[in-house]
Amino acid sequence: MESQAHSENQRQGSLAAGEAPDFCSSPALPETPDYLRKTYWWAYEHPLAVRFWDRGFLINFILLGNYTRLVDAVLEAFPRPLTGSLLQISNAYGQLVPRIQQQLDESARFDLIDVLPVQLEKTRRKLKLPDERIRMFPCDATDLPCPDNSYDHVLMFFLPHELPEDKRRQALSEALRVLKPGGRLVLVEFHRPRTLHPLRWWQRLVFGLFEPYAMDMWRYPLTHYFPETARYQVISQTTYFGELYQRLVITKT
Ligand SMILES: C[S@@+](CC[C@H](N)C(=O)[O-])C[C@H]1O[C@@H](n2cnc3c(N)ncnc32)[C@H](O)[C@@H]1O
Repeated sequence: MESQAHSENQRQGSLAAGEAPDFCSSPALPETPDYLRKTYWWAYEHPLAVRFWDRGFLINFILLGNYTRLVDAVLEAFPRPLTGSLLQISNAYGQLVPRIQQQLDESARFDLIDVLPVQLEKTRRKLKLPDERIRMFPCDATDLPCPDNSYDHVLMFFLPHELPEDKRRQALSEALRVLKPGGRLVLVEFHRPRTLHPLRWWQRLVFGLFEPYAMDMWRYPLTHYFPETARYQVISQTTYFGELYQRLVITKT
């Protein structure tokens, strides 16, 4: 069922460039989704897990040495300095958020949401604060409490592969909904590797053990999970490391 906060906010936005939407009508903390509690508690939910995993070398190991390259790929997809408003949908470990902060123009606005407050707290401690350009909200990617057409840029960094298909579809639909026409959605994700990729079977094993929804990234392009009615244009699709990772940049038409 649609939450009240969401439906009250779902209206055609008319925000000027760089103006940030009002998130305040969503005071309640979101519930931790079942898939997150059952499948990823050891990675994101438990405070000790957050302390353990949020280390550059571990994230780099999980991404097979590609962490910095993929963060660079995110930053290259946005203007430098980054002007206008940016929504990052779900936190990421490591230096992604501090590096976005470094790239922000003085007039930019940057909102970060995550369904787990513990994730936002951890990232808050990595930023140079106070910084009036940055806000953080605990909320669910599948039900964003902000108006349509709110942001100039929207970013998801390795979120879709962690979501069950129905939640993935909802989260991508929300990302497109809050993006302004002409704005950019940047998705960095896994991708089906080349057939003879030497780490293909290793990655498959990791998915089999820890990431039950991730093989979907090998089965279909990310746009397969967009709503059928979505109006968008692919600006670029770039693959990395023998096609094991991808960056998809689209614009809403
Ligand atoms: C972006 S993903 C994976 C990022 C990658 N493993 C890394 O840390 O670089 C992990 C984040 O997604 C968040 N998350 C999962 N489901 C979510 C949802 N429905 N809404 C918002 N955040 C969600 C988790 O709380 C976690 O902080």
